[in-house]
Formats: sequence, structure tokens, C-alpha cells
Amino acid sequence: MKLFLSVVFLGVLGVALAGSEGEISFEYHQYEELRKALVSVWLQCPTITRIYTIGESFEGREMLVLEMTDNPGTHEPGEPEFKYIANMHGNEAVGRELLIYLAQYLCNQYQQGNETIIDLVHNTRIHLMPSMNPDGFEKAASQPGEIKDWFVGRSNAQGVDLNRNFPDLDRIIYVNEKEGGANNHLLQNMKKAVDENTKLAPESKAVIHWIMDIPFVLSANLHGGDVVANYPYDETRTGSTHEYSASPDDVMFKSLARAYSIYNPVMSDQHRAPCRKTDDDTSFKEGITNGGAWYSVPGGMQDFNYLSSNCFEITLELSCDKFPSEDSLKLYWEQNRNSLVNYIEQVHRGVKGFVRDHQGNPISNATISVEGIDHDLTTAKDGDYWRLLAPGNFKVAASAPGYLTVIKKVAVAYSPATRVDFELESLMERKEEEREELMDWWKMMSETLNF
Ligand SMILES: *[C@@H]1O[C@H](CO)[C@@H](O)[C@H](O)[C@H]1NC(C)=O
Ligand SMILES: *[C@@H]1O[C@H](CO)[C@@H](O)[C@H](O)[C@H]1NC(C)=O
Ligand SMILES: [Zn+2]
Repeated sequence: MKLFLSVVFLGVLGVALAGSEGEISFEYHQYEELRKALVSVWLQCPTITRIYTIGESFEGREMLVLEMTDNPGTHEPGEPEFKYIANMHGNEAVGRELLIYLAQYLCNQYQQGNETIIDLVHNTRIHLMPSMNPDGFEKAASQPGEIKDWFVGRSNAQGVDLNRNFPDLDRIIYVNEKEGGANNHLLQNMKKAVDENTKLAPESKAVIHWIMDIPFVLSANLHGGDVVANYPYDETRTGSTHEYSASPDDVMFKSLARAYSIYNPVMSDQHRAPCRKTDDDTSFKEGITNGGAWYSVPGGMQDFNYLSSNCFEITLELSCDKFPSEDSLKLYWEQNRNSLVNYIEQVHRGVKGFVRDHQGNPISNATISVEGIDHDLTTAKDGDYWRLLAPGNFKVAASAPGYLTVIKKVAVAYSPATRVDFELESLMERKEEEREELMDWWKMMSETLNF
């Protein structure tokens, strides 16, 4: 991940300072304007933001990310990481704009002393990627007139639909469910295979590396064309077009999707008419739907997050129109603002803590498992972990090769996350103790029997 160079900085400084600082501009931002908008947030809130790029699109546009947190640029031990990705389909434009407005809003509110936002920024590392498909967007936006074609700009510049381009890990997990096998991190030790895979678009590759390099806990992928919060699995078990496809974390995923839809008055409206008369919205309940129940998506990014990393991702459909007229953007912001903030706050649910050895050293890549949920997670570099869970009583286990497993009973409320640390005894240590006990016993016996 290379640092964003400050080349644009010089060119943009004048514009940013001349523009009315802090005001959200409810308009479409093409590539250059998007860069400028992110830079102006950075200039306004330099201590809590950083701009970086995770790679380049096929046509060489940067895949820009605005990071917002109290110590930008580093993973702080114990602090959960969150991401929003938008505009993966280049012609689905609302999410792209909402993430720009969200960046501006968070920066403004932070500066104005809004306690909710200050807490959120101080306790979370937030990554916002307004466009995963900058080439597609330019193509869609360059069509003349207000009405845009339903498909132009959806794919990347190679014609690849990025939300069908991810390694299809659902097929692997569905075999493993039946025959036994890993229930998480299915791409473990296969980074090289990803790099050498010629079917992967550069945009997908960059995002795969991003997902695997940063210990993300929670994420959402912003789309358009309907209005619903969609949760895993997206691909059906049998391959049929419509079939409820529960993941092991179905209860929590429903709760997460609901945490978004509940604050969006259009999404949560039970009496909302379908976007188009021909749409089949029968699987929508309270503004949420299981992905497979709606329609099966193989090779999508949502399930890939869950099956390749610790990250839980849902997919948000934000507008019936994929590229609505500019004067409706403010309305979309108003419909989604509280949802966008509330969904980030979901990262602070479940159980979290550290796994360490008896000397206090962090144990990374330790396994965190929850009885009754067939999906394990792993600890990050500092031994820190975040296990999203809906309210209830759980048995949580921490284990690592060479250590004795520790199981703890945990009560989880809706939020905040319950702190549970684990101290694991190494088997070497245990053997040493046992040897010493044996020696003591032998000494005692020898003395008693007067050897
Ligand atoms: C602070 O931010 C929260 C979350 O976006 C919002 O609901 C609240 O209205 C804000 N408070 C003020 C005083 O603006
Ligand atoms: C993490 O642990 C798993 C098995 O427990 C192992 O296969 C994998 O290589 C480990 N990953 C790293 C990065 O050490
Ligand atoms: Zn889409």
C-alpha cells in the first residue's frame, strides 16, 4: 500500500481553501473531483484523516481510500477496523457520493465537538473507499443527458463484473460443511495463487489483498438498483436461483442488516412498492433480505469477506435508480445518514479482547471459536480479536498450536462488546511443571524411604 503523494495537494489547496470549508456539496464527483473532495476533508481534519490508495484500476485510476481515526496510518492494538466500499458497479453512483458526504460529515461533526462522532472516531479505524470501479463510473457519468443506461459502466474497463469476480469460496465451504474441513480463512497461504490468477481484475486483486492485510471486523458494500440490506450467504447451497442460504452467523447478520435498514425510512417501510413492477421483492422483510433468498450470486465480494477473513460484510442497495439525477442526492443523504453512522457503531458489539501467553506476549493467529457457531475467527498481530455476536450467553474458546485451550462463559448484551481476555499456558511450560512435580515427588519418596 503506497502512500498517497501530495502532488494533488498543491493543485487543490487553492480550491479547497477558497471553497466554503465544511459544507457538504450535494453533487456528483467525477474522478478528479472525488480526489479533490477527499483532499479537502484531509485538509480540514488532518489529525484524524489520511488518504491512501490500495492499487490502480485497469485504466490506471487510483483506488482511493480515506481513513478516519485518532491515529491514522496504524492499527492500534484492540481498536476494531471498519470499511465501506462503494461504486463497485461503476454505474451505481449513490453510494459513491454518500461516502464522500459521510467523510465530510464526520469531519465537520468531529470539529464541532459532537461526542458521538468523537467517540466513534477515537475508538474505531474507519476506511472509506468511495469507488472500487473508478473506470466504470467515468464511463457511466460521461453519457450525455440525465437518464443513464441501466448497464453502461457496470463492469470494469475489461468488461469484468467485479461482484462476480471474487474466488468462489462458497463452493468450498459447502463441501467442507458436509465433509469436514476449515470453516474460516479459506484462502490461507494462497496469496500467491491470487497474484497469479489471470482471471482476477486488478480492482478485485487490490481489494483481496486489502481484505487479507488489514484485520477488518465489519464492512458494507454499497450498491444501487433496489432498496434493501442484503446479508450472507449470497450464493445458494444447491445452485438454485432463490433459496434461503443461512451462514453460521445468520442471527448476527440479520441484526447487522437491520441496524442499517431501521434508520432508513424508505428501506424499512413495509409498504414500499417494489422499485419496478417486475421486481420480485418477496424475500424482503423489514428492509433486509438473505442474499440467496433474493437471488444467487456466485463470486461476490460479500461472502468472500466472511470466508477469507475475519470480516463480516453486508451489501446495501440504496436507490431504485442506479444513477439518479443530481438534485436527488441530498435526499439520499438524508435517508441514509443515520444508517451509515449507526452501522459503523455495530463494530463495537459481541466479544473482544486479547489472547496472550503467561508471560504476557501476544499470540497472533490464535483461533477464537464460539460453541454452536461453526465459524471461527483468528487473532490479529497483537493477539487482539473482535467476535461479533448477537445478545445471549456463549462459550468462547481461545486455542493455538502448542497451548492449552481456554474456554470462558460470556454474557453478551446488544452493545458495547464484552471484554474477555485469554491467557494461554504453553504445553512446554506445562511439561516443565509436570517434570518438576515429579522430581519433588521423587525427592520426597527418597527421603521417606531413606534411599
Ligand atoms: C451527533 O452525531 C449523531 C450521529 O450522526 C447525530 O445523530 C446527532 O444529531 C449529532 N448531534 C448534533 C448536536 O448534531
Ligand atoms: C495460522 O494458523 C493456521 C492453522 O492454525 C495455519 O495454517 C496458518 O498458516 C497460520 N497463518 C499464519 C499467517 O501464520
Ligand atoms: Zn450493484
